[in-house]
Amino acid sequence: MKAFRINKYDKKGDLQLADVPVPIIKDNEVLVEIHASGVNLLDSKIKSGEFKLILPYKLPLTLGHDVAGVITQVGGQVKKFKVGDEVYSRPADHHIGTFADYIAINEKDVALKPKNLTMEEAASIPLVALTAWQALVEIAHLKKDQKVFIQAGSGGVGTIAIQLAKHLGATVATTASEKSFGMLKNLGADVLIDYKKEDFESILKDYDVVLNSQDNKTLEKSLRILKPGATAISISGPPTGDFAKAIGAPWFVKLILSLISYGIRKKAKKLGIDYSFLLMRADGRQLQEISKLIEQIAIKPVVDKVFPFDQTNEALKYVESGHAKGKVVVRKRER
Ligand SMILES: NC(=O)c1ccc[n+]([C@@H]2O[C@H](COP(=O)([O-])OP(=O)(O)OC[C@H]3O[C@@H](n4cnc5c(N)ncnc54)[C@H](OP(=O)(O)O)[C@@H]3O)[C@@H](O)[C@H]2O)c1
Repeated sequence: MKAFRINKYDKKGDLQLADVPVPIIKDNEVLVEIHASGVNLLDSKIKSGEFKLILPYKLPLTLGHDVAGVITQVGGQVKKFKVGDEVYSRPADHHIGTFADYIAINEKDVALKPKNLTMEEAASIPLVALTAWQALVEIAHLKKDQKVFIQAGSGGVGTIAIQLAKHLGATVATTASEKSFGMLKNLGADVLIDYKKEDFESILKDYDVVLNSQDNKTLEKSLRILKPGATAISISGPPTGDFAKAIGAPWFVKLILSLISYGIRKKAKKLGIDYSFLLMRADGRQLQEISKLIEQIAIKPVVDKVFPFDQTNEALKYVESGHAKGKVVVRKRER
């Protein structure tokens, strides 16, 4: 089968198209014929070597973290799925590789594709929706009438996080360029701040939750718009020692991450804010909950561009530009 791979860590270089064997499934895995793959900045960050410390991969490696497709084989112990099921997934770390014809995925990381979505729309969902779910539901326990600040509302995570927060009954503030305001109002955002012209710190006050996806300076400013007892979740760093412990990283990684995050943890503590770093993880059960919200039209996919499979490198470059509106998807097969 065809697969887009990296042979060495390289920030600027392209993924290499290679012929590789179709994966052989284990008893608890399903083989998915890939119809579409979502493209994520995580693919770029792994390609450049930026994630070596927390996700040490052996190379060569097929990239790609999101998939929608059809099950063509099931392992002997698979209970929830059968051949022919249309599914989607964010395969677990160390089991990625959706820029290819087929992928073997543990059944616990798979969910049935929402019936009302195309393959391309479904492939845009798993990684960003699980990120939003794990931040807002699992960590922040976001409740009705709370106020949440979701940065970069027009991005892949932002477009889904806004809809999830509105579904949970929260008031949502977000930053974006003015040209995205119409789309963000449609998604339900209540307070829109043009990050190119306005300073969110002078507009927002007494927020309960912030979802930080920008740089450390923005994270520091975000702490100051929160009230004591609030929750700050960063998906763009700095990772903490607690995070290193949670993923079972070696002691030296824990030490490095404790040092890197010392400043922000100290500032958060002084303000009475609970700071955590989130690196989302695969979870088929949560994805099945997300499917329900999509079928109820509480969450709609936002797909900016669909590229053909042979233009996977162009798709990745478009994501790396940092200006996608919603998600970028690669189409492998027509349904
Ligand atoms: N830790 C995790 O588990 C996890 C999971 C998912 C993502 N992430 C990380 O979270 C970050 C966001 O990911 P993403 O996929 O949502 O990114 P994305 O889709 O590439 O974000 C692009 C969007 O961000 C907007 N934007 C750019 N700079 C901005 C700023 N300073 N303020 C507000 N909006 C801005 C752009 O709008 P304009 O074009 O109008 O500028 C564009 O629409 C990335 O660093 C990604 O790696 C982490």
